[in-house]
Amino acid sequence: MSQTLTFAEKIAKAPDFLPINGTDYIEFYVGNAKQAAHFYKTAFGFQTLAYAGPETGVRDRSSYVLQQGKIRIVLTTALKSDSPIAEHVKKHGDGVKILALWVDDAYNAFEETTKRGGKPYAEPVTISDAHGEVRMSGIYTYGETVHMFIERKNYNGAFMPGYEPMKSEYNPSDAGLLYVDHCVGNVGWNRMLPTVKWYEEVMGFVNILSFDDKQINTEYSALMSKVMSNGNGYSKFPINEPAEGKKKSQIEEYLDFYEGEGVQHIAVATADIVKTVRQLKANGVEFLSAPPETYYEMMPERVGKIDESIAPLQELGILVDCDEEGYLLQIFTKPVEDRPTLFFEIIQRKGAQSFGAGNFKALFESLEREQAKRGNL
Ligand code: FE2
Repeated sequence: MSQTLTFAEKIAKAPDFLPINGTDYIEFYVGNAKQAAHFYKTAFGFQTLAYAGPETGVRDRSSYVLQQGKIRIVLTTALKSDSPIAEHVKKHGDGVKILALWVDDAYNAFEETTKRGGKPYAEPVTISDAHGEVRMSGIYTYGETVHMFIERKNYNGAFMPGYEPMKSEYNPSDAGLLYVDHCVGNVGWNRMLPTVKWYEEVMGFVNILSFDDKQINTEYSALMSKVMSNGNGYSKFPINEPAEGKKKSQIEEYLDFYEGEGVQHIAVATADIVKTVRQLKANGVEFLSAPPETYYEMMPERVGKIDESIAPLQELGILVDCDEEGYLLQIFTKPVEDRPTLFFEIIQRKGAQSFGAGNFKALFESLEREQAKRGNL
């Protein structure tokens, strides 16, 4: 695809009313946080960081905070049925509730976004303990998903007030995961453009990349996607919408099973994808089946010369794509819960700032083999 501006030039045009330093944490609402924490430690190599629950004076929930590199995930479960967390899990299954953004001023972030039409989720509040204070606020994005704004410049505790540092005797080795590269949202029919407009107007993001259903389709199903970025590129949210195909779009399958719009995948970066994926597979993480051999035969012609040898990429099913600025390596897990909803992407960037559109067709064909097995195609 030809680009008139580089990604850096495009994001430089973003307004600066909402400075963001990166992802602060991602919070999942789950049916059993204790077991989910064990899964993310064992399978993905996260480490125990902090805990909140009845033992720390929180009566209605338990939350486990895990960390790997700069990635922090929070796994939260309700302790009683009459809880909005329980309602969320009943409707959506396990999934992402909060995409928290690290900001310099959480009060200002709330004011700037709500005056532009952001729907309040959490009024600005300051919470403190012996380690200082955290200021936070939040607004809704697509579906029931929320962006929290977290300001922690005056805090030096493990996570935030309300949480106690947690040590575990079980500390599996990490998998080399470094930071959140991007988080993708699936929205309903005709909802991509309004959502893109919302990110532009309310959050001050810019659209850096678009794919229509002509570019992302197979014989059977299709999607459209637009990538939204903030002004420093630390926060990137691609938005997917289903498109008409001969059979059901994978985005529609997600919407049916999540019972609404929500986070489709979280992409986490590694500096050595072969090593990371080998370890994740040994830990039991399930990945989408590898593309056909022809994919790897065509690779030198399609992406040019790469540093990695093709044999381990092919052995592990790692995909490669390129753009004007370099190339990237990526692979997608199967959904990490029973509903075919949230999954993870492992990505290693070698210059490329794009998202692997050239792989979408290969990915789609692989996804659809799985979708057909579930009888949903
Ligand atoms: Fe992605």
